[in-house]
Amino acid sequence: MYMMFFGSSVLLLIGMAVLWSVFLFRGRRWLTLLNIFFLLAWLGLALVATWSIGWEFIRQIFGMLAPMVVSPFILLVTVRDRSVWGQLVKRYAVFVSWFAVYMITFQIPAFPDGWTYFECFGLPILVFILLYAWDKWFGRRFYRHWIVIGSVLMILGFIFISLLWNAKAMQDEGHAMQGNWGGGKVTTVKPSVDVTTLTGPDATAVTKQYDFTAAKKNMSVPDGSEKELWLFNGQLTGPAIRVTQGDVVEVTLTNKNIEDGITIHWHGYDVPNAEDGVPDISQKVVAVGESYTYRFTADTAGTFWYHSHNQSSEQVGHGLFGSFIVEPKKQVKEELEIVGFVAPKYVDSSGALLPANGKVPKNIKPGTNVRIRLGNAHNKPQKLILNGTTFQIAAIDGNLIHKPTDLKETYLQIPAGGRMDITFTMPNHAVCLFDAKDATGGWVFQSTGENTKASTEIPDNVFKPEKYGEKQATTLDASDGFDRLFTMVFDSKLAFFDGMVHHLWTINGELYPNTPMLMVNEGDLVKTTFVNRSYSHHPMHLHGHKMLVLTRNGAATTGSPWWTDTLNVKPGETYEVAFKADNPGIWMDHCHNLDHATNGMMMHLQYNNVYTPFSGHTHE
Ligand code: C2O
Ligand code: CU
Repeated sequence: MYMMFFGSSVLLLIGMAVLWSVFLFRGRRWLTLLNIFFLLAWLGLALVATWSIGWEFIRQIFGMLAPMVVSPFILLVTVRDRSVWGQLVKRYAVFVSWFAVYMITFQIPAFPDGWTYFECFGLPILVFILLYAWDKWFGRRFYRHWIVIGSVLMILGFIFISLLWNAKAMQDEGHAMQGNWGGGKVTTVKPSVDVTTLTGPDATAVTKQYDFTAAKKNMSVPDGSEKELWLFNGQLTGPAIRVTQGDVVEVTLTNKNIEDGITIHWHGYDVPNAEDGVPDISQKVVAVGESYTYRFTADTAGTFWYHSHNQSSEQVGHGLFGSFIVEPKKQVKEELEIVGFVAPKYVDSSGALLPANGKVPKNIKPGTNVRIRLGNAHNKPQKLILNGTTFQIAAIDGNLIHKPTDLKETYLQIPAGGRMDITFTMPNHAVCLFDAKDATGGWVFQSTGENTKASTEIPDNVFKPEKYGEKQATTLDASDGFDRLFTMVFDSKLAFFDGMVHHLWTINGELYPNTPMLMVNEGDLVKTTFVNRSYSHHPMHLHGHKMLVLTRNGAATTGSPWWTDTLNVKPGETYEVAFKADNPGIWMDHCHNLDHATNGMMMHLQYNNVYTPFSGHTHE
């Protein structure tokens, strides 16, 4: 929906700019009429967009551009003098309408700042004055096509400078990082807590110990080809970590030959900051030949995963990840468990399912309670279908759903980095689970002895977590309001980067590490609003904290409390989430489309009293 608005908006603007250019040469009445039609269409679009996707979008895109789009018409109608003024208005219209196209595609990536306001409002006025002066003094000596050529060259110049300038932000080193206090109290204390002191328990408490060695290995992947993968202990997916609530887990990581160095991040697990595995924030990268030990208490049960957090896009993509399951202290019912991931992009880009703890059973006895813990290691949200039985979603990102209800003919959309626990009772016929893109059909479970077929149809209904399960009071009490309110607007910029023109992904118009940090004090209750103005999905992942979803596109959630660590925000969507700042440290908050993270879409959540002895921003 939003993509349509955005796309047609750009097309209408380009149409208008082209027409104005033609108009310069032939000032025919029908051209004016056609231009007016384009204007009305554009304004209509803005109006419909306001209703359907909210004022936030309109304020920033349509609202900013409106004066630029409307002003040539106003001038045309009010300035009737055909000789000098008439010519002037035409030239002005050509420049300003091309400039509007430039602004929408390159220059309004977030909250408009003072400079953007000047560009949208002040610059058009300045241009008109300049044109007036030009006409008055040089009018006779210049041909009018010079205006068109000049305008086009100027816009190309703007584009070129923008492309160069935008990439520069990515290279910024050692700048003074800014803080965003979310409208709350500014408490600039001298940071006294070193992140490296925020560790887990000491070695004597360890109850589960693992040794992981990261190395390269040639291996055949689901599509049958042989590839070089980067793996922990030579396994795809990495060695399964399965512990019981209360265990103290220790993992010693050794890097055999991953040149750029590695770390391990416990995705979705709220470990103490020093164990979080973010290079240059909580530790130095583990270089070839080096080792590093992580230790933390597994105090929360659920489905989690771990992955390398250095150059994650490359490293997770090549296989450096695995499952991390914490079983509850007492198991509620007997279950057959299957753990798996949607493969990351280098391993298989068609959504193949990778088993995470040995083999996936072919036969399951009817009546068996089955739990499939499924994670998405891919960069894009995945459409997953379970056919052949009714099922329930027992947990999202390791957080139990309160009173889940039966689902059928519903597909699941699992965000990049997200997990869902799917439970069902095995019927007396086949059940299959597959990714919509996967032509091989995914996993098929036969009921013992029989060979039946489960439908491979893709249902139309999507699972809606905001309406699923039953309401329940949460530990997060917002009755006294929030201490901080943050807004994060997602968009993109084009830039020359790595020798090519790339999309760089922005938060509030800025690229990491220039994005101001979200500043909190320990104990703060925080509300964050996500606004996705771009045309790509952004699975937002906050380290060290769980977020409670409050609203989706303005409507309050009505089902079970929806706790998440990775929330997929679609183009045109707005979410409000809340979390309690109860885990001191410096935490990444980033898009889990890891390519987007590499290209700028990262930032920090920073507790005001904590500092890092490392360089302070990760070179992810
Ligand atoms: Cu799963 Cu910061 O990552
Ligand atoms: Cu993204």
